[in-house]
Amino acid sequence: MKILVINGPNLNMLGIREPAHYGKETYDDLVTKIQNHCKSKDIFVELFQSNHEGAIVDEIQKAYKNFDGIVINPGAYTHTSIAILDALKSVNIPTVEVHISNVKEREEFRQISYVRLACVKTIMGHGTDGYIEAIDFLSEGK
Ligand code: DQA
Repeated sequence: MKILVINGPNLNMLGIREPAHYGKETYDDLVTKIQNHCKSKDIFVELFQSNHEGAIVDEIQKAYKNFDGIVINPGAYTHTSIAILDALKSVNIPTVEVHISNVKEREEFRQISYVRLACVKTIMGHGTDGYIEAIDFLSEGK
């Protein structure tokens, strides 16, 4: 099982940015947590973070035929990016959308998710545990 975890803009600022929404764990903490979990489950994992929409599209395209699942937190691009949606549809790899905060209870402009249209599941409001849940869903179907 090979899983690609993609984090979009400002997720490199975890631990610094709005801790009330995103908690105190840093991006490096998140990377370590995911790597340890995947190691314990014998899952090959690669992590990618970018603040640039095109770089995220490139990474999704590169995943074609190379990964069995994608976990993506597109950050603010969730609410704007048809390009990321189209990239996910192009590669047709089972994808889970993750949001650290509970976007449902936040601003109106966060209620739209374009990427969701290409995802098999959405996990939100579970903090960074949401990434682990997404990996388990893709690897075990639960
Ligand atoms: C986020 C929610 C988005 O609305 C926001 O723009 C982010 C992070 C989350 O993880 O809760 O950057 O995707």
